[in-house]
Amino acid sequence: MIWLGIESSCDETACAILRDDPLEILSNPLYSQIQEHAKYGGVVPEVAARAHLEKITTICQKAIDEAKISLKDIDAIAFTRGPGLMGPLLVGASFARGLARDLNIPAYGINHLEGHLSAAWLTEQDLEPPYLTLTVSGGHTELVVEEPGFKYTLLGRTRDDAAGEAFDKSGILIGLQYPAGSTISKLAKGKNRKFHNFPRALKNEDNGEFSFSGLKTAVRRYVESNSPEFIQENLGDIAASLEDAIIDSLVAKTIWALKKTGFKTLIVGGGVSANGLLRERLGKYCESHGIRLAFPTLYNSTDNGAMIAAAAIRRARAGMLPETSTEVKPWLPL
Ligand code: KG4
Ligand code: ZN
Repeated sequence: MIWLGIESSCDETACAILRDDPLEILSNPLYSQIQEHAKYGGVVPEVAARAHLEKITTICQKAIDEAKISLKDIDAIAFTRGPGLMGPLLVGASFARGLARDLNIPAYGINHLEGHLSAAWLTEQDLEPPYLTLTVSGGHTELVVEEPGFKYTLLGRTRDDAAGEAFDKSGILIGLQYPAGSTISKLAKGKNRKFHNFPRALKNEDNGEFSFSGLKTAVRRYVESNSPEFIQENLGDIAASLEDAIIDSLVAKTIWALKKTGFKTLIVGGGVSANGLLRERLGKYCESHGIRLAFPTLYNSTDNGAMIAAAAIRRARAGMLPETSTEVKPWLPL
């Protein structure tokens, strides 16, 4: 069975070809629109929708070529139906619908967050729920229990900004370009994480909730009360202190959830799961507490087409594929 996975919920136009049984990613290319949004300091929905429209055919063809298959070999399509930006989602869904009709094959709408949580499964297929999951992306930060049958129970989420948003917005305030997560992480390497004590809101509260808007305000105040030269000269140490604050909050609440639920498996997904410090700190905790920890590959941590096909394949194997409706849902919980 050959699957085409399509992801277009935000600023990545991504297509992937996966073979199932045995599972193999045959191709997973994407076009990142980052440069088109960087000058605006964030994703502009209209710019994103137009860029998806311009690139989706090329990326799909690239996926087919790299997989060394032909269009007619595709048996089913999985596309992101939400959550995400309306225009970008519509481009992916319409493309999927048109192609599915031409090829007379089904097109299944997949939840983007389920895609992120299926990315680790691409490398560790013996992962079986129930387990604890942490989704950390540009739009989401949440701790969720997954039970067999794709049953999800929310333990806690962010009250305001997502962790990726905290990286991006803080980064822009200290003079970096959107998206700032991986830049902050690179700048922070080997630098002083205790240079400045940025806030860790809700860290010691007995719940699974996060809050990052106070951090953003603290960074703004910090930038305003120091000279641009000071910020520039100490950029590495400031980035390290920022990364420390965000990762500290994420790790503390994940440990809270592990203790609360007693699960011995933790799955992490979403763009921020590419973060080295998060991997290192969760790794240390899980290793010393006998907890199995699963991360996606670095490439599959951020948005990609393979994770969407992966979620569809997991569902197909469980006999739980969604309806073949191509309706999109910008607000869609797990
Ligand atoms: O999952 P994703 O590709 O898109 C959404 O669904 O939002 O996540 C993008 C987010 C951005 O906020 C980006 O800054 C962040 O992931 N990110 C990182 C790293 N790589 C990407 N944050 C921290 N460290 C990284 N290495
Ligand atoms: Zn995402």
